[in-house]
Amino acid sequence: MIELEQAWHNFAPSCERNKAVIWQAIAPFLADKKSLLEIGSLSGQHACFFSAPLPELTWQCSDISFNLAPLSANIKQHGSAKVLPPIELDVANNQHWPRQPFDVIYTANSLHIMSWQHVVACFANMPSSANAGTLFIAYGPFNFNGQYSSESNAEFDIWLKERDSQSAIRDFEAVDALAQQAGMSLVTNIDMPANNQLLVWQFS
Ligand SMILES: C[S@@+](CC[C@H](N)C(=O)[O-])C[C@H]1O[C@@H](n2cnc3c(N)ncnc32)[C@H](O)[C@@H]1O
Repeated sequence: MIELEQAWHNFAPSCERNKAVIWQAIAPFLADKKSLLEIGSLSGQHACFFSAPLPELTWQCSDISFNLAPLSANIKQHGSAKVLPPIELDVANNQHWPRQPFDVIYTANSLHIMSWQHVVACFANMPSSANAGTLFIAYGPFNFNGQYSSESNAEFDIWLKERDSQSAIRDFEAVDALAQQAGMSLVTNIDMPANNQLLVWQFS
């Protein structure tokens, strides 16, 4: 792990822990796809790992400007030609969203980090980069029926809010309502290890 930490800027140990299980869950959704936009790529570890076995898929990383230079350096060093140089994408800035439809839009562990206002903006702006059939895949912890899905998620939520009062584990029902307003319907909700979910919606 120390060697990996030295090899990557903004190295995320969580990505090393979750990449195999996320891959198992998302591989069937990516199999026949050609283009993917990732929101909040941070280090780009998921992009480099998931795109390697998918030579037909072009993976567009993105993040807010603060994280762009280290992400760019990681992609240059560890990515294949199918991982494109990252673009600046703050979900709240409508102008940042590419005016081209992607087959898949993917994000991991970002909806509980950004503010609720930004989550709302994310769903409102997403149609700019989607068309009928586009999948939106979100990985991370979610609450259901107003309840934490585990004691560890309840503790994680306290930790998140102490770090940034705008962060919080989101209610699935509220996020699903935003997805429906944006023109999507839920395809599946997969229980993942460590009390996370993989949520897949599709634009109609
Ligand atoms: C906990 S990190 C997750 C990084 C990576 N996806 C992972 O799974 O390890 C949260 C990510 O959300 C991004 N983020 C926060 N606010 C954002 C915003 N307004 N627009 C786009 N990305 C944002 C952060 O820059 C960061 O890359």
